[in-house]
Amino acid sequence: MSKVQGRLEGQLAVVTGASRGIGRSIALRLAQEGAYVLVHYGTREAEAEAVVQQIVSGGGQARAIGADLSTPDGIQALFVGVDDAARKHRGGGGFDILVNNAGIGQIVTLEETTEESFEEVMRINVKAPLFVTQQALPRLRDGGRIINISSFVTRVASPSVFAYSMTKGAIDTFTKMLAKQLGSRHITVNAIQPGIINTEMNAGTLQNPQGQAYAAGLSVLNRWGEPEDVADVAAFLASADSRWVTGQCLDASGGSCL
Ligand SMILES: NC(=O)c1ccc[n+]([C@@H]2O[C@H](COP(=O)([O-])OP(=O)(O)OC[C@H]3O[C@@H](n4cnc5c(N)ncnc54)[C@H](OP(=O)(O)O)[C@@H]3O)[C@@H](O)[C@H]2O)c1
Repeated sequence: MSKVQGRLEGQLAVVTGASRGIGRSIALRLAQEGAYVLVHYGTREAEAEAVVQQIVSGGGQARAIGADLSTPDGIQALFVGVDDAARKHRGGGGFDILVNNAGIGQIVTLEETTEESFEEVMRINVKAPLFVTQQALPRLRDGGRIINISSFVTRVASPSVFAYSMTKGAIDTFTKMLAKQLGSRHITVNAIQPGIINTEMNAGTLQNPQGQAYAAGLSVLNRWGEPEDVADVAAFLASADSRWVTGQCLDASGGSCL
């Protein structure tokens, strides 16, 4: 197959949590735009390799990197892989696009929250993106992009996912601060706030008719979201077309709870 040509030609992108769900779709979409994509995964190596295979068979370029982002050693391991790819792919010189997507869901009320459940969701959804970004900053090229995956739950109060919502509120604040800090380097930083998306995270909700009706009914477009609905927004934010957009949290929820 011939090599892909697109808006992200020659760029190196890192997408965390790209073995499945939203991250997988973002990885496929950025590769379609011509980026060389580092497909990060936590545990599902075979699924990440399948994403790489799909990209390569479509004429794109990708490599899988496994790392548990809940530990400092795991974050170091991710960047050993990133540095190696940057060296081989472009003779060093860092990378261009970071998508902080990996995360966990947690349907837990305030009353049900334990110290352990709170620390777990904070560790993966807040602490990991912060320290991944800290490692990324010296490697990210000026003019690059950071895209954080937040959620519409920061706009709509959802006490059934109490601590999870707090983690995404932290991501929105993180996004604004980073955008201010990195403006002088012409790096834009934005967040996407998806609504209910058809991924394993929502398997419980979307497997029965009541859950499906609830999920579709939240959106004014009367359907739940697919990972591609988020990936297309990520492709815009990764591209030069979004050059004058920074520090923003873009709702991608089909107008849920308007
Ligand atoms: N689905 C939704 O409705 C929705 C809505 C709003 C926002 N979001 C956000 O969108 C992002 C992706 O969600 P999704 O629904 O696509 O999730 P998903 O299908 O459950 O996939 C989660 C991804 O994160 C990775 N991951 C989880 N914990 C990890 C860890 N400790 N270390 C490394 N990787 C880890 C997983 O890797 P492995 O599978 O390889 O272990 C997987 O690739 C999350 O930040 C989520 O909060 C989702």
